[in-house]
Amino acid sequence: MKKMIITLIAFYFGQFAYSQSYEVTSPGNVLKLSFKVENAIPYYWLSRKNKVVIKPSRLGFLFNDVEPLNGNFKIKSTTQNAFDETWTQVWGEQKFVRNNYKELKVSLIEDSKLPRSLDIVFRVFDDGIGFRYEFPVQDNLQYFVISEELSEFALTGNHKAFWIPGDYDSQEYTYSTSKLSEIDASIGSKFSEIEVKSLIDDNFVQTPLMMKTEEGLHINIHEAALLDYPAMHLTVDKKNYKLQSQLAPDAYGNKAYLQTPCKTPWRTIIVSDRAEDILASKIILNLNEPNKIEDVSWIRPQKYVGIWWEMHVGYSTWNYSDLKNVTLKDMDWNTVKPNGKHGATTQRTKRYIDFAAEHGFDAVLVEGWNVGWEDWFGNWKEEVFDFVTPYPDFNVEELSNYAKKKGVKLIMHHETSSSVTNYERRIDEAFNFMKKYGYDAVKTGYVGKIIPRGEHHDSQWMINHFTRVVEKAADKNIMINSHESVRPTGLSRTYPNWLSSEAARGNEFNAWSIGNPPEHETILPFTRLMGGPMDYTPGIFQIKMDYYDKNKKEHVHSTLAKQLALYVTMYSPLQMAADLPENYERFPDVFQFIKDVPVDWHETKILAAEPGDYIITARKERDGENWFIGAITDEQGREFNLNLDFLDEDKNYSATMYLDSENSDWKDNPMSYQIKSMQVDKNSKIKLHLAPGGGAAITFAPHD
Ligand code: NOJ
Ligand code: CA
Repeated sequence: MKKMIITLIAFYFGQFAYSQSYEVTSPGNVLKLSFKVENAIPYYWLSRKNKVVIKPSRLGFLFNDVEPLNGNFKIKSTTQNAFDETWTQVWGEQKFVRNNYKELKVSLIEDSKLPRSLDIVFRVFDDGIGFRYEFPVQDNLQYFVISEELSEFALTGNHKAFWIPGDYDSQEYTYSTSKLSEIDASIGSKFSEIEVKSLIDDNFVQTPLMMKTEEGLHINIHEAALLDYPAMHLTVDKKNYKLQSQLAPDAYGNKAYLQTPCKTPWRTIIVSDRAEDILASKIILNLNEPNKIEDVSWIRPQKYVGIWWEMHVGYSTWNYSDLKNVTLKDMDWNTVKPNGKHGATTQRTKRYIDFAAEHGFDAVLVEGWNVGWEDWFGNWKEEVFDFVTPYPDFNVEELSNYAKKKGVKLIMHHETSSSVTNYERRIDEAFNFMKKYGYDAVKTGYVGKIIPRGEHHDSQWMINHFTRVVEKAADKNIMINSHESVRPTGLSRTYPNWLSSEAARGNEFNAWSIGNPPEHETILPFTRLMGGPMDYTPGIFQIKMDYYDKNKKEHVHSTLAKQLALYVTMYSPLQMAADLPENYERFPDVFQFIKDVPVDWHETKILAAEPGDYIITARKERDGENWFIGAITDEQGREFNLNLDFLDEDKNYSATMYLDSENSDWKDNPMSYQIKSMQVDKNSKIKLHLAPGGGAAITFAPHD
């Protein structure tokens, strides 16, 4: 499957060549990237099929205490390359990924007595571009501190944008849709349900930023391979429709501490007239380095259940007792009075293990198993959890033997409560504890304000922390699912043990807050999921929370059928069946879909999509013949006529369709559904009705 063509053309210019512009077109001539240095300032711009997408936009840096690196350049040399390779994913939405681009590397040098040099590399694909800065080894630039990166994205008009407020600590917002000129990120202050916020200002948004022009062009801006550098936010110039990078700062307001040779992450611009192509783009993965883990036999996509949703709905608690102000060091837990509602007991965990074994789930997550939950966040204290001491009613040894006997894995939970110094001190011991008891996956959590104090979830120190954890985990054959971590940038290609992360507003908000509007899941794949899989935790069947307590008004903003569809539309190699076993046992017929749906795919086809409106995705399982469809809509009901021409040639399929009923509605009638069966082949067409806030999930199994 591997094919590679590399051509190399190098041009070297004297100091007089710097007013010229350089161009590189994508392999299929769809996109054209241009670069020039004018009045000593570097600019790039981008067009698609001869129409401008990004107008001339500045590049460069501001540094602490030394002259900026942005306005005194001439071109030393340029190099062009072409690259075409097909690589195999360890897991993913498709088994094979083609990485096909043309590259332009521009080497700049300052026009001064002590000149510094900077290289800028552009990779131009048919569906977008990536560019990054490289700082070569040089006499006049060794150690340096970036106070801002000046990358601009000058847009051609007042595009529609799907945005969340710029915030260095949280992405757990619902999306707003507005013209660029109408962005008002101050609405972020209204989200009182978000634990820690560091909103930047009215005119800052996060990436991935999804936009649509009046002519119907879809544009997505994000980054790839975020390593040893802070996450990028964007400031919006609402008059000129120009975006500029804004890096997350540390406690001193500094952005990045670097030493040459070094490079920044890639800045990505994905562009297509079809929204479906944005979801299908593999640019962000392609811009990351190949897999660094030699033996991947222990890395397994998986489905899990867990002692989790029951805490979010108030059925049980993480904490063992109702003590307050607990200091770990002085506690003798055997003398503490339990509150009687603790979720992670030996008995309850066995119930989940039995359930997982009976229904073919790979693993059971148990939260609240370890001491410290009495007083775990809000006080910015350093000693919270030690990650190795179970509560007295959680017998880790007995459970690890029990799980092994049943062929089920336990998933560890390390809530750090953002005392990251504490976690780093204890992580070796914590990982060894996991190995001793047979755990090979951990859900990490970063609720609260970061320690080291003054750092942010998105600042360089924390980016390095996330990388340290995933590398250390890889050494010990441990898979990671990180919550409240930085939003992903395709690093799961390099570290395929980083199975999933949350890093956005998950389904949990539906349990205890105003929740997620029905359009939320139609936007997430165009934004948060562009960088990698999300542990959204779908599969809630008991939609309304008054089932647990009649005073509760909260409910999941979805029909039951839509909860099934999310397993297909919201890709992750790690998917939770998030509801309680008791609730699945009430609906064995629809639960069958969650049991059947795979988490690893040979092939994916986005059949129809529009951000904020609907998504219909078809996927074929890896190492199998079955196809699956997930279809979701926003608050509007919709009808679709689906062509099944994606199905394999010459095969007949039994389709099992899990559908909204005629009168389903996310608000008033969310749990009503119907299951239909029919025989189809690739020439068939089917009619789909999606209720308001609804969805559909379909299994296609071939037969003779
Ligand atoms: C927030 C996480 O997103 C959630 O999944 C977890 O249950 C709580 N933190 C406690 O760690
Ligand atoms: Ca969360």
